[in-house]
Amino acid sequence: MQYNKLAKKYGTPLYVYDFNHITNQFNQLKEAFKARKSLVCYAVKANSNLSVLKHLKELGAGCDCVSIGEVKRALYVGVAKYKIIFSGVGKRDDEIKIALQEDILMINLESEEEMERVELIAKELGLKARISIRVNPNIDAKTHPYISTGLHDNKFGVDIDSAKRMYIKAKNSNHLEPIGIHSHIGSQITELEPFRAAARVVSDLVRNLKSLNIDIKFFDVGGGVGIQYKDEKTLDLYDYSQAIFENLTGLDVTLTCEPGRFLVGNSGVFLTKVLYEKNNGKKRFIIVDGAMNDLGRPSLYGAYHKIEVIGRNEDLSKADVVGPVCESTDFFAKDRVLPLTKHDDLLVIKSAGAYGFTMSSNYNTRARVAEVAIKDGQDKLIRERDCFEDMIKEEAKCI
Ligand code: LLP
Repeated sequence: MQYNKLAKKYGTPLYVYDFNHITNQFNQLKEAFKARKSLVCYAVKANSNLSVLKHLKELGAGCDCVSIGEVKRALYVGVAKYKIIFSGVGKRDDEIKIALQEDILMINLESEEEMERVELIAKELGLKARISIRVNPNIDAKTHPYISTGLHDNKFGVDIDSAKRMYIKAKNSNHLEPIGIHSHIGSQITELEPFRAAARVVSDLVRNLKSLNIDIKFFDVGGGVGIQYKDEKTLDLYDYSQAIFENLTGLDVTLTCEPGRFLVGNSGVFLTKVLYEKNNGKKRFIIVDGAMNDLGRPSLYGAYHKIEVIGRNEDLSKADVVGPVCESTDFFAKDRVLPLTKHDDLLVIKSAGAYGFTMSSNYNTRARVAEVAIKDGQDKLIRERDCFEDMIKEEAKCI
């Protein structure tokens, strides 16, 4: 890809996404699931750019949303209501109300109290709320503790016994209709066994519920399929689907999943330019124009992202790649072997399509960056860079 050309045309820092890569990832997943009815609900939080959502919608994806804002994004690009799931550990009344009025596929509940709120609001609206319950199967996903969600130490979902009690209550309610079951044990998972174990625990509950005449139609295994950032061995998708399917024998359910990173992570790169190099005798620093506010994964999780310096491969030595933000955690790499760089050299930070732009901020009154999509060899701006006026707009009104 002509990164230099794109950097010149759109400026840096810049996110660039390869939409053909997204298509391939989506098709691979659908292929792995083809033995069953399946619904792929893309986890919007990974990359919520409207053009990304529209592209995935055109491929047939639904959306997994964690705020009413994300639900509205999905609706805005025309994702079918019956393909939208609203999850999240703390939904506000107004969010629940809109989700019910919009008649989306289901609201995924994460506590008993939340179920009571949903029931109450559905009653006020004279509706019956389609729900699923997020089960916390108490399984170690063997991933970074900050992105692990399936243990009882984590705030997510409810334990099996509470879930069962909730399903029975929901079944007996005039305003709740239990149609789904959900679990999501964590993110960036590269081992099969945690997925298999979670599917076993959850499918046991589905069978148990069936014997109580509670008919679950959507079996949602969440997201979490890992990608290669460095040299991780990733899952074979066929093995992944089989690990789930082997637990579903005899159950007439639509396999639902919520991949985020798998679909978009390796479709994206972050382009940033070298401003300066400096060496204090002990350490070499490459100072670039991007920063932790643009791509926060290295500073938040110590995440590894490959870095390529376009057009240079000589005078290699270890360096920290750092941004201009006034924090010591503002780095993209530490002690990385990289060539000597010059002002205006371009760095490509790989695997930046997921949880990159969506977690960016205006910290230090830095403009959130522009985003570009490449599809069939054509580049297209899909988000303009913030300008100063955008950043102060809401405050300027109140001064
Ligand atoms: N479904 C639910 C309920 C989730 O909480 C998540 C991610 C997903 C699906 C999508 O997971 P994925 O397929 O992308 O692994 N900011 C972190 C990741 C946080 C993930 C939060 N939940 C990072 O940059 O690694």
